[in-house]
Amino acid sequence: MIDPSVTVGSVRLRSAVMTASGTAGYGSEFAPYVDLATIGAVVTKSLAPYDWPGNPAPRLHPVHSGMMNSVGLQGPGVDAWLTRALPGLLDTGADVVCSIWGRSVEDYRRAAEMLSDAPNSVVAVEVNLSCPNLEGRGGIFAHDADLSAEVLAATEACGRPRWAKLSPNTDRIAEVARAVTQAGAEALTLVNTLLGLALDPETLRPTLGNGGGGLSGPAIHPIAVRAVADVRNALPDTPIVGVGGVATTADAIELMAVGASAVQIGTALFADPRVLARVRDGLVTEAARRGLGSVAEFTGLAAL
Ligand code: SIN
Repeated sequence: MIDPSVTVGSVRLRSAVMTASGTAGYGSEFAPYVDLATIGAVVTKSLAPYDWPGNPAPRLHPVHSGMMNSVGLQGPGVDAWLTRALPGLLDTGADVVCSIWGRSVEDYRRAAEMLSDAPNSVVAVEVNLSCPNLEGRGGIFAHDADLSAEVLAATEACGRPRWAKLSPNTDRIAEVARAVTQAGAEALTLVNTLLGLALDPETLRPTLGNGGGGLSGPAIHPIAVRAVADVRNALPDTPIVGVGGVATTADAIELMAVGASAVQIGTALFADPRVLARVRDGLVTEAARRGLGSVAEFTGLAAL
C-alpha cells in the first residue's frame, strides 16, 4: 500500500493534489467529478473582507499553451463565503484552504480576523500576495519583500497555518520568500500567473476587458519548476506548494521532485475537472512503479 498523504508544514493532506485558487468555483461544483474528501484540499478563490465586483468582461481567454485571465478578484467577501458557500463545501468532506487578498495591509488583517472562528476543516489560509490584475489599485504586493512581510505579520489572527502565494513576475522571489517566512508564513505557494497581454487578431484590441491579464497553463510550467527549485535551494526547510501548468502526473512529480510537498491544479480544470482524480491516482501508481512507500517521497527527488 502506498501512502497517498503528504504534509505541508503542520498540515496533513489526504493527497498531494489540490485545486488552485480561483479555478474551482466554490468547490462543491466539482463534487460530481471527484470525491473532494480524497484530494488534498479545495483552495478557494481569494476573498477580501468585503464583496468585490472584479474586472469588466471578458475575463478569461484561451491562448496557445494556456489561458489568460483578468477576473480582478471578484468575490462575495469572507463573511458571506463563511455563511453561504462554506457549509455546502464542508458537506462534501473536503478540507479547505481559504485564500485571502486585500488592497491594503489592513484589508488582509480584517480578512484574517474574519477567519478566526472558521471550522477546523479550513486547514490553512493562503495569503495571495501576487494577483497581477490590480494595477493602479495596490499593485503586486509580492514584488516588495518588506510589504509582503508586513501583510503576513498582519494575518496571524486567522489562527491557522498561513501559506504565502508569491509572484513569478520578479527575480526576487527567493528574497520575498525569505521575508514572508520570517514574518510567519508556514509554507509558500509558488507560483501565481505571469503578466501577459493577448490581442484579438481582427480588432487588434485586448481580448480581456481589463487589457492585460495573468497567463497560466502549460506555458508557465517550467517557470514554476524553476521557482520552486530556486526557493527550495534558498530555503530548504520551508515547505512549498507547487502550482503552474500541472495537467498530468508527470507535471506534478516534476514540481515535487524539485522540492514541492504538494501541488495545485488550476487551468487544466477548465478543460476537465476529472484531472484531479487522475493525478491523485497517478501519483500513487507512479510511486509504486518506482518502489517508493509514499507519495511524499517524491519531494526533493530531483537529481539537480
Ligand atoms: C484574478 O482574480 O484576477 C486573478 C487572481 C490571481 O491571480 O491571484
